Amino acid sequence: MNKVYEKVVDCVKYVRTKTDFVPKVALILGSGLGDYAEDIKIETEISYADIPGFPISTVPGHAGKFIFGYVNDVPVVCMKGRVHYYEGYSMSDVVLPIRLMKLLGAEILFLTNASGGINENFHAGDFMLITDQIACFVPNPLIGTNIDELGTRFPDMTHVYDEDLQDIIRKTAAEHQITLQAGVYAQLTGPSFESPAEIRMLRTLGADAVGMSTVVEAIAANHMGMKICGISCVCNLAAGMTKQPLTHTEVQEAADKAAPLFKKLVTEAIVRF
Ligand code: HPA
Repeated sequence: MNKVYEKVVDCVKYVRTKTDFVPKVALILGSGLGDYAEDIKIETEISYADIPGFPISTVPGHAGKFIFGYVNDVPVVCMKGRVHYYEGYSMSDVVLPIRLMKLLGAEILFLTNASGGINENFHAGDFMLITDQIACFVPNPLIGTNIDELGTRFPDMTHVYDEDLQDIIRKTAAEHQITLQAGVYAQLTGPSFESPAEIRMLRTLGADAVGMSTVVEAIAANHMGMKICGISCVCNLAAGMTKQPLTHTEVQEAADKAAPLFKKLVTEAIVRF
């Protein structure tokens, strides 16, 4: 068996010794949504550290565990803490959790993250529905022998973010008077923030927001035929757009401030999926 696939299958086998829960939605909690678990009727939790071979997140504010439970009546598996490429993991490890959640039964992947706003009409604290992505600044997670059990060698990327899920999120936001921007999210490796010149480049290329996650996860999920949606919390305006330097603390604080509304939007959207 393909080594990368074998590792995922081993993780699935471990999880299945702990729970037979079958999620419909896989939800990744970005910065600021870390305490979303409070809104979940929890069935089981599994720490990443307990899963043999699982990459463990090292970023403050990204405590690592899977939470299995219900958002109203919808069965979800929730990742509290994701795996970032800048932590030094291979791309196959970065997307391992996505593959694991799909193999546990999840059909929908709901991605959330914190980002820097590039679009000049955005403000710190805005939410952005992700409509498309720019992946070409990070290694593709599908490089290497194709895992035929998961998907095809050359997946189409025309509709990565599912139109129906986007409509649901747009309507949900409107119903709750939550302002929702929409746009293209670009992933760079990090961990350094971008330079002002890089931000100008990204704007020219059509990016509306930038961050250090999400895009490769969406590629791996799209490979497996999952339905994908994503919302970004624009925590700051990107480098060079204001006079202040960027800090992780500032990003975290902005994310925490946005959290109550962000949680509401996520919950209300999930129950409509
Ligand atoms: N750049 C990259 N990632 C980020 C940013 C940013 O400005 N803000 C939050 N995550």
